Amino acid sequence: MNILVREEEKKDYRRVEEITRLAFSYPGRIERGGIGCPYEHWMVNELRKRDGILSLSLVAVEHTNEEIVGHIICSKAEVRTEKCIVSVLNMGPISVLPEYQRCGVGKSLIYAMIEKAKKLGHGAILFFGRPEYYPQFGFKEAAEFGVSDAEGYNYPSFMGMELIPGYLQKAVGGRFFESDIYNDEMNREQVKAFDEQFLMKEK
Ligand SMILES: CC(C)(COP(=O)(O)OP(=O)(O)OC[C@H]1O[C@@H](n2cnc3c(N)ncnc32)[C@H](O)[C@@H]1OP(=O)(O)O)[C@@H](O)C(=O)NCCC(=O)NCCS
Repeated sequence: MNILVREEEKKDYRRVEEITRLAFSYPGRIERGGIGCPYEHWMVNELRKRDGILSLSLVAVEHTNEEIVGHIICSKAEVRTEKCIVSVLNMGPISVLPEYQRCGVGKSLIYAMIEKAKKLGHGAILFFGRPEYYPQFGFKEAAEFGVSDAEGYNYPSFMGMELIPGYLQKAVGGRFFESDIYNDEMNREQVKAFDEQFLMKEK
């Protein structure tokens, strides 16, 4: 498949939110998520207003019909140690339209994002995601960098990558803090209201 990755533009916003919603509406998700609806499309919308990095909001376009088939966004996050605050990127959500999944779209988006983030001078990425998918890109458990989550825990779905070698050395012993946009409990009511627009369109 011929995939082009480019920066997201304003005209893409709604379609990207629809794709995000579709990608995260897989069977069992709603029940497991417990929030009553998928919420990553709200995150994308909100990240464009605060904490998101627009130059690292990228879309994957299928070359033949110029259709957007995937999206990735990064946001500002930090590792706090007793001595300093280390700025890092948080990655996600990443979404691929269900009918285009497992065709290399996610891979194209992640490699393009890593390359661009390096060019922009970012030092490291830390995020929560599927431990069975991300190691192929070079992501390692955050524990290997000596960084824990905000509560001081480590587990396989908390991963990271240095974009500048050695960048996370100053973060050893620190805790990772991401935007509160990722806090689904805190944002539950706003997400529900936002999702109504998508439900109305489906009816
Ligand atoms: C997860 C997701 C972004 C992956 O994108 P994708 O385009 O489907 O994946 P790719 O085709 O680029 O996968 C690259 C490789 O990883 C493998 N892979 C894809 N999804 C995988 C998964 N969930 N677990 C393990 N391996 C996976 C593919 O088989 C492929 O292997 P290959 O290179 O040997 O052929 C996409 O499936 C998606 O949008 N899922 C729903 C939303 C979601 O879960 N987002 C991520 C939350 S952390």
